[in-house]
Amino acid sequence: MRVRKLFPVGPVLLAIMALATLAGGQQSTRQLAANAGESAAPDPTFTRDVLPILQENCQVCHRPNGANMGGMVAPMSLGTYEEVRPYAQKIATFVEARYMPPWHASPAQHGLFKGERVLSQAEIDTIVGWVRSGVSEGDPADAPPPVSFASDTSGWAIGEPDLIVQFDQPYLVGDDVVDEYVDIEVVIPAEMLPEDKWIKAVEFRPGSSVVHHIIANPLGGIAPGYEPRIYDDGYSRLLRRGTVVTFNMHYHKEAGEGTAVYDQTMVAVTFYEPGEKIQYVVESDMLGTLDFVIPANDPNYSDMAFYLFRKDAHILWFNPHMHLRGKAARYVVTFPDASQQLLLEVPEYDFNWQETYRFKEPVFVPRGTRIDLTLWWDNSADNPSNPNPNRDVRWGRPTTDEMGFGFVTFVDVEPRHDIIVGEELPRDLRRRTRR
Ligand code: HEC
Repeated sequence: MRVRKLFPVGPVLLAIMALATLAGGQQSTRQLAANAGESAAPDPTFTRDVLPILQENCQVCHRPNGANMGGMVAPMSLGTYEEVRPYAQKIATFVEARYMPPWHASPAQHGLFKGERVLSQAEIDTIVGWVRSGVSEGDPADAPPPVSFASDTSGWAIGEPDLIVQFDQPYLVGDDVVDEYVDIEVVIPAEMLPEDKWIKAVEFRPGSSVVHHIIANPLGGIAPGYEPRIYDDGYSRLLRRGTVVTFNMHYHKEAGEGTAVYDQTMVAVTFYEPGEKIQYVVESDMLGTLDFVIPANDPNYSDMAFYLFRKDAHILWFNPHMHLRGKAARYVVTFPDASQQLLLEVPEYDFNWQETYRFKEPVFVPRGTRIDLTLWWDNSADNPSNPNPNRDVRWGRPTTDEMGFGFVTFVDVEPRHDIIVGEELPRDLRRRTRR
């Protein structure tokens, strides 16, 4: 890869690149533009005005069995008036501050990405107005029908899995553990995956609350804030028969007697059906920086990396990744004619929300286009997440050290017409001599 500083760590980190898959489903249908220019509902009631906003913007996480986003599980259900009322004040505060729903791309970029979790000003005003005017319940007959989610029936946001890969036996995370990194290999038996299959969706389920993040080569992985990922129709990656899934687990907890936990993490996969066509084989690459030193107490340390496209491509999505001192991220492309475009700006990076920024319209980049990634860290005491401002910080796996990379996921511009699920793979995709 053509990167200034490349990670020498190979498969472990390469696996993360596959993290970046899609989260389709309920939220992607949001129509932000439709809300623009509207004004807040007068005399808002819960059933008529507030509940529809919660259904559309909050319930995917805030409900029983809500989305488990890499260990981040929303603390309460926001389904009924009784459930919402005790949180009304907090909800008003959080939505006004735009802390909920969580979304970290710059407001200037709203409209660019799929599944943007953003309330319109009118929606915020409606919620705040409802709380200030005394949280009236309203007429139950005004309430919209409840929304159902895929995981209500199957337990999985991606629907009924075709394959579940799980540790063969529970792993004990001992009393004295604060941070533990362990690689757990699970062979996918031939009966479960008799042939190479095209992945439609992947969803991880951490087996305990101490899972901090998972990288599961070659299925991807999760870190806090990741959503289950569902590929758009016609887009896929191949899962090879005989794959050994290596779960690179990061466990994190307080140490102490009686804190030991058994973990048996699993990942579920759905596949395309025979006869379906795959037009785009999804690829990822990463750009990052490895040999940085963030000085103690530096509030605004920055480093860069770039990536050069060697073929015409459509960019599907980006994932910036830093740790607790991560502050901001920016991706800018420079086209071969020297014109530039800002593609992603994350002005307030939050380690807890490792988001995937999926373009509504894949971005065309001709061969020779360069992406520059700029990352910023805050190693000062003003960063509330900073575990220790008085230390120079280098690259390292623990969250108390730092990382600095961005992933870019793309496809060839030309759709393929030679991949039909269930039929023999085209020559270029046939298995070489690999596991
Ligand atoms: C993508 C998942 C997700 C969505 C969507 C979401 N939340 Fe949350 N919410 C969380 C998680 C996880 C937490 C706990 C961690 C945190 O506070 O960051 C949380 C915390 C909260 C809290 C604080 C609860 C407490 O007692 O500390 C409030 C209030 C809240 N959310 C309201 C909302 C509202 C209102 C919406 C919709 C407008 C919403 N959330 C949308 C995941 C989500």
